[in-house]
Amino acid sequence: MKFHILTWGCQMNDHDTEKMSGLLVRSGLLLADSVHDADLVLLNTCSIREKAAHKVYSELGRINEIKASRPDRPMAIGVTGCLAQQEKENIFKRAPFVDLVVGTMALKQLPRLVANVFGGGNHVIDTDFYPDNHLFPVDCISRSCSPKALITIIEGCNHACTYCVVPTTRGSERHRPVGDILTEVRNVVDSGFCEVELLGQNVNSYNGGCTFAELLYKIAEIDGLEWIRFTTSHPMNFTKELAQALTSISKVAPFLHMPIQSGSDKILRRMGRGYTAQEYIDRIGYLGERRNNMCLSTDFIVGFPGETDEDFESTMSILELIKFDASFSFIYSPRPDTPALHLADNLPESIKHERLARLQARQTEFTTQSNLREVGKIVPVRIESHTPSEQGYWLARTAQWRNVHIENSADSQLPFGRLVDVKITGAGPHWLKGEVL
Ligand code: 5AD
Ligand code: SF4
Repeated sequence: MKFHILTWGCQMNDHDTEKMSGLLVRSGLLLADSVHDADLVLLNTCSIREKAAHKVYSELGRINEIKASRPDRPMAIGVTGCLAQQEKENIFKRAPFVDLVVGTMALKQLPRLVANVFGGGNHVIDTDFYPDNHLFPVDCISRSCSPKALITIIEGCNHACTYCVVPTTRGSERHRPVGDILTEVRNVVDSGFCEVELLGQNVNSYNGGCTFAELLYKIAEIDGLEWIRFTTSHPMNFTKELAQALTSISKVAPFLHMPIQSGSDKILRRMGRGYTAQEYIDRIGYLGERRNNMCLSTDFIVGFPGETDEDFESTMSILELIKFDASFSFIYSPRPDTPALHLADNLPESIKHERLARLQARQTEFTTQSNLREVGKIVPVRIESHTPSEQGYWLARTAQWRNVHIENSADSQLPFGRLVDVKITGAGPHWLKGEVL
């Protein structure tokens, strides 16, 4: 039996796919290269915005057509991830050809549930809450071919942002014991990884035996590990101690993704973020002068219910003030079972789109300026491709998570996953150009 998993959403979902692959391989299934070659197709879904949820249903239709086109070979179809957790049995109502629904907290049950489906079970579902799902048998994880190993440190989220499905789809926080995390990092380093990314919806609230900053110091002691990354940070959990760790531990990559969402205190309050714009600015201030050597990235939501022109101008002002090196911005999307659903949302769509376009255009200017400042520098980059692209360049990343296209090495082999010094020779909004020294 062969399986194929399609994945949407964030790094937690990417990593859940690696966990599910590991469980299925351990129970005797083989990885299929494509949907066409699979007996079991899993869609590991996201429901953060309505568009993400829509995509899943249209993809389900496409997969069902493939299933119908090969009556000689049965295909089981499963939905996992955040949409599965949120929609539960409703998935069977909207897509009756789906055989299996597995919630985010029932991951470890997957082999049993798949055996049930292969044994003839119809509409098999498990969206129960398993309080120990953060204690996953990490030895079986099938890591993807990225040079960076993803490491879960917290499952779930204890914040209650009024627009967000995550507290519902992933539950409240469960923190892995510090010893388990250190063992896993040591093991991935022994197996050849030189870079790890610590994952949590609210990664810097870690408290599974030490603070998050202390965890960074402990992980940094592991020989052979070169770069440590982490995502996603919440401003309310960004302490001076963490800023000190981030700016002083050489192995911690100089990169911080910390969503601000809005520059208006009124909107931040309505979003239930728990900080004011000034408090966010103050926390960035904890980084001191070192902020200039770092990449700072954020998320914005525009068109939140009640956002006036003035509120949006506050968001633009904070972008001007902080000059984020990168940001991800989205139009507010009403989500089921979230408190913001009940807020009056009268803003015309055209205004939301205008605001988003304005914010993104200004961000592109800041990102380009930030990238241009790198030109002429010699920096270590990690090689992220096994072969050159069709255009003839190799893909690599700097410690600050900037994309680099290495152009002068199309004929020579560069070592996948290893650090190489390059000279930055050019920059655009989304990439740097580099030459191997
Ligand atoms: N609508 C729009 N954007 C959202 N995000 C989270 N929930 C919503 C929503 N309902 C954005 C936030 C978050 C990022 C992962 O997605 O900016 O930081
Ligand atoms: Fe999407 Fe959030 Fe779930 Fe990640 S945790 S898959 S972003 S809904």
